[in-house]
Amino acid sequence: MAEFKRTLITSALPYANGPVHIGHLAGVYVPADIYARYLRMKGEEVAFIGGSDEHGVPITLKAKKEGVEPQDIVDKYHAIIKDSFRRFGISFDVYSRTSSKVHHETASEFFKKLYDEGKFIEKTTEQYYDEEAGQFLADRYIVGTCPKCNNEKAYGDQCESCGSSLNATDLINPKSVLSGSVPVMKETKHWYLPLDEYEPWLKEWILEQHKEWKPNVYGQCKSWLDGGLNPRAVTRDLKWGVPVPVDGAEGKVLYVWFDAPIGYISATKEWTPDWEKWWKDKDTRMLHFIGKDNIVFHCIIFPSMLKADGTYNLPENVPANEFLNLEGDKISTSRNWAVWLHEYLDEFPGKEDVLKYVLTANAPETKDNDFTWKDFQARNNNELVAILGNFVNRALVLTQKYYNGEVPARGLLSDFDTETMERISTLKAEVEKSLDTFRFREALKFAMDMARLGNKYLADMEPWKVVKTDAERVKTVMNICLQIAANLTIVFEPFLPFTMSKLRGFMNIEPLPWSELGNPDMVSAGHCVNEPELLFEKIEDTVVEAQMQKLMDTKKANEIAEATAKPAKENCTFDDFMKMDIRVGTILEAEKVAKTKKLMKLLVDTGIDRRTVVSGIAEYYAPEEVVGKQVSILVNLEPRKLRGIESQGMILMAEDADGSLKFVSPQEAVKNGSEVK
Ligand code: 2FM
Ligand code: ZN
Repeated sequence: MAEFKRTLITSALPYANGPVHIGHLAGVYVPADIYARYLRMKGEEVAFIGGSDEHGVPITLKAKKEGVEPQDIVDKYHAIIKDSFRRFGISFDVYSRTSSKVHHETASEFFKKLYDEGKFIEKTTEQYYDEEAGQFLADRYIVGTCPKCNNEKAYGDQCESCGSSLNATDLINPKSVLSGSVPVMKETKHWYLPLDEYEPWLKEWILEQHKEWKPNVYGQCKSWLDGGLNPRAVTRDLKWGVPVPVDGAEGKVLYVWFDAPIGYISATKEWTPDWEKWWKDKDTRMLHFIGKDNIVFHCIIFPSMLKADGTYNLPENVPANEFLNLEGDKISTSRNWAVWLHEYLDEFPGKEDVLKYVLTANAPETKDNDFTWKDFQARNNNELVAILGNFVNRALVLTQKYYNGEVPARGLLSDFDTETMERISTLKAEVEKSLDTFRFREALKFAMDMARLGNKYLADMEPWKVVKTDAERVKTVMNICLQIAANLTIVFEPFLPFTMSKLRGFMNIEPLPWSELGNPDMVSAGHCVNEPELLFEKIEDTVVEAQMQKLMDTKKANEIAEATAKPAKENCTFDDFMKMDIRVGTILEAEKVAKTKKLMKLLVDTGIDRRTVVSGIAEYYAPEEVVGKQVSILVNLEPRKLRGIESQGMILMAEDADGSLKFVSPQEAVKNGSEVK
């Protein structure tokens, strides 16, 4: 591997149309932060770049729904996201945004240079146009049935049900989300990046020269490349975004996936005037931390853009993660199925590192994983409290008890002492190897093994017993425990920075560089440690039960919303409707139909006559409850036999989200026979 002088770490820019959740954290920001902190501790030059992705159709749709401007939406969420990252301790060197002036200028210049150099193809094609709204329908402005899985709510760019990437023209029964009308085809001009021309180069660069990329990343690239690449439009007919800087392109903006990765460049510019060093100097190594849905954009499209420009570095690696699910279901912003970072920070003050720990220990590095509140509790109680917290607490408490907090000098070492200290060095090598290959959960496990080692050493040495017989020996044992604790402040620093700052406070030591890890002489005899407090506290059942209840409530609310959101049936004519004769009647008698669960036989006064109707309400009402009720009844429905009883009409019922039925009745009493229209 080439030697690099510095590392540029980019982390996917989250869309500013909602807050960030644990899926974003586990996939992108926690691993990127661990890596940035690790390199900084090694004394390496690092730039850790973040920012909000503020363009794209979902933001404009949200603004429209809320009756505000897109800028209002992104201002709101950018502030929430930026603040929650700060509180959570994600150590960005800069956190920028793509609606900024510097970004608009940078993205515009990037496009203009490629345009001037003839790197785009100009094509006029027919695209969907909403005649009622008077605009072209880009990506998510159009919905219809997915041709692959029949999901009726697929978008013009993607089906969220089967994950297929789509073109709007692939959709069956397309509809405009603006007006609901059926769109027409109309000609429009756009600029395309001819990805097909970059295909041979991409194949060589990725498939031959980057075989070390993670299998999930390499595999996805290979399948895109094997499938063949097509020219890709980098502009859209839209008002929100970076205007296309070309004469005659009024009303067109850069495609969000063209401008967003350029956001990494603008953020670097915002951070330092020396930005080119980070992007163009061959001594700089660039890494993109992203989730799996971003792989094609960071491994194929953005590199092709950079290659087309010709003056930029390409990424050295793209350690993308798979997805984190929540309690068995896909995390979803629109369905509010998430643990939101800003809410977690409010509800679990002082427990930032607990979440970081759980998300790393269970990181979706090689496959999708599931976050559950039970696992969160178990990892806190059985690992952070019982292993790490327990070891350092015992080491510090015993030092207070036996030596008033003064680190004792070591005497002769036993073989076990030496082996224990040597094991720290081997663990250091293992942690480093894992971190260097972006295997963060494995690295964390090795770090935890160091705490386990301390616990085992204490348990085996039993200083609380030996103290009665061999006081000198106990000095050696406690000295070694404190050296292990000092090593823990280093090895856990990238993962649990708040907690390690606390632990250094208890130990009365300064932050130590990574190079000191493995050193068995970090705290000298005579150094005084402070009175410790608990590093972690147990999480009680009631706490996680409350979180689980919150999710249950969300699920319930979603079910209701989904039931009410059922798409409307095909239109019917006024005459169709007028054919139905619906009246208000009163139920006079009711009895369950024998040997059925659902059916009830009703005698109804319709104002026209008295008639028998069989209705499927028996699971929801007892006969005595319904007698005397005024209900709506379709009186001209063909009579039909149910269980041998002729039913002469149908009672109108509303089906609630849980499937239960409620009568559709007039709010105030009316005369039987009144027409419903
Ligand atoms: O998937 C997303 O959330 C995108 N907003 C990521 C953009 S990454 C980069 F290109 F800016
Ligand atoms: Zn589908």
